[in-house]
Amino acid sequence: MKFFIDTANLAQIKEAHEMGILDGVTTNPSLMAKEGIKGKKAVEKHYIDICNIVDGDVSAEVISTDFDNIIKEGKHLSKLHEKIVVKVPMIKDGVKAMKWFTDHGIATNCTLVFSAGQAILAAKAGAKYVSPFIGRIDDSGWNGVELVQQISQIYSIQGFKTEILAASIRSSLHIIQCAEAGADVCTCPLDSIMGLLKHPLTDIGLAKFLEDAKKFA
Ligand code: E4P
Repeated sequence: MKFFIDTANLAQIKEAHEMGILDGVTTNPSLMAKEGIKGKKAVEKHYIDICNIVDGDVSAEVISTDFDNIIKEGKHLSKLHEKIVVKVPMIKDGVKAMKWFTDHGIATNCTLVFSAGQAILAAKAGAKYVSPFIGRIDDSGWNGVELVQQISQIYSIQGFKTEILAASIRSSLHIIQCAEAGADVCTCPLDSIMGLLKHPLTDIGLAKFLEDAKKFA
């Protein structure tokens, strides 16, 4: 399973990249706004800055909702950097636009996916990634990880090539569960990635080893 970081914060992206475990980045308009980036040029520069840090795909989301403007915006975003993947919402014009992007060699990430039916449409449109929103599904009293399992089973039976990108991750446990459920990619906040490091027996064991090492130093 690939690890993406789900942020537009450059310091956090650098920190994850420097650990050597980062395969890409996802952003969305809310994450960009959180960084205080204002204006089209500043947003574009920020995407390029992110692309210059990481080695893998960087999702940049369109904010248009009609076919013509999604195409115009997506074409422009994809030209900013070769690592850019155009993130398109799961709406009717979005599906039509993803098929157009697929036919024209532009990679897409289908976002705001909450059902298996939507994931089938994303695959049919040739999306490179489909992003089921695990945490938001859990927040609504459903089970996000079960959706990943269901999509994984359908894609495997049908031979769909779209990669399952588990998004809206809220915890380290979500990452482990998504790996078990067959996610190809997990996009996570930095805290959830760092949480995977933690185990008290590791800390206790290391303290003991370092103490004993003093005996023969
Ligand atoms: C990433 O592609 C999604 O936009 C993001 O994971 C959504 O996360 P949230 O539900 O925490 O806003």
